[in-house]
Amino acid sequence: MISIGGLSLEHPVLNGSGTFDAIAAQRAFGDALLERFPFSAFVSKTITPEPRAGNPPPRLYETPSGMINSIGLPNKGLEGFLAQDLPQLAELPVPLVVSVMATDRDGFFRLVAGVGGRDEVAAIELNVSCPNVKSGLIVGEQPAETLALCEALRPLTEKPLVVKLTPNTGDPAAVAVAAEEGGADAVSLINTLRATGLDPGTREPWLGAGSGGLSGPAVRPVALEQVRRVAAEVSVPVIGMGGIESGADALDFLSLGASAVAVGTANFRDPGAGERVRLELEALQGQAPALHLN
Ligand SMILES: Cc1cc2nc3c(=O)[nH]c(=O)nc-3n(C[C@H](O)[C@H](O)[C@H](O)COP(=O)(O)O)c2cc1C
Repeated sequence: MISIGGLSLEHPVLNGSGTFDAIAAQRAFGDALLERFPFSAFVSKTITPEPRAGNPPPRLYETPSGMINSIGLPNKGLEGFLAQDLPQLAELPVPLVVSVMATDRDGFFRLVAGVGGRDEVAAIELNVSCPNVKSGLIVGEQPAETLALCEALRPLTEKPLVVKLTPNTGDPAAVAVAAEEGGADAVSLINTLRATGLDPGTREPWLGAGSGGLSGPAVRPVALEQVRRVAAEVSVPVIGMGGIESGADALDFLSLGASAVAVGTANFRDPGAGERVRLELEALQGQAPALHLN
């Protein structure tokens, strides 16, 4: 068992928000999914106060060793999530972490009060890769904005608060420290890296939204460096992610100070990736250290 900010987890492999649809997977795999759930906690896709349709298509662009998505957080909104998704997610055999995002303080209050009041929810992840409509700044790119948001939300719930950091900032460790100071129980990183790709025929941006977020193995070295810097600066647990495809990748994140890891893009290619990463990780951790001859 490991403990992440008050969450007891059977092993250190979670899913990245928005990369594994547990409700669709249950439809496809039935009870087998519940018996062998691939993650030690389930992190929901990000929900917003009101329903969102997401970005115009196309929403995906393949890159060498990665992909750019501009899905744009389509979701049913808080009320739709509580009424339709929460009862199904509550049946999963692992703790439920609900990811939330809003563009103003009021929206975050509604979300944290709304999901924080539900027994089925074990923890809340704050997706801070969002603009603050008042300041026009992306909250997670600014330590001061992140501190103010965490301080405002902390008193609203006793559930563990995880702050999901964006890599699109010069000093992610400063933002992580601000999250910790504001009362976060853990931080998770990295979210996707801002990116674009062109239509080879027209030389115009391919994605309907013009740009999106890069994920997959291409971002792993960036994620490792950011986890290294953040883990050195905070004392709350760090959940590391970004391009994890194997147990060896996961071990790299843990070796740099992460307490747990999350599998994201790899789930799209292989819904069993989470379980495979865990088994490979356990095999590696059980092994004697490799002998290095100088
Ligand atoms: C299609 C897609 C949807 C995503 N949706 C969300 C989301 O709703 N909320 C969030 O915090 N992160 C979201 N992410 C980011 C992932 O959770 C993860 O932080 C990122 O992709 C890096 O990990 P990876 O390279 O293993 O995918 C999404 C990523 C992808 C590829």
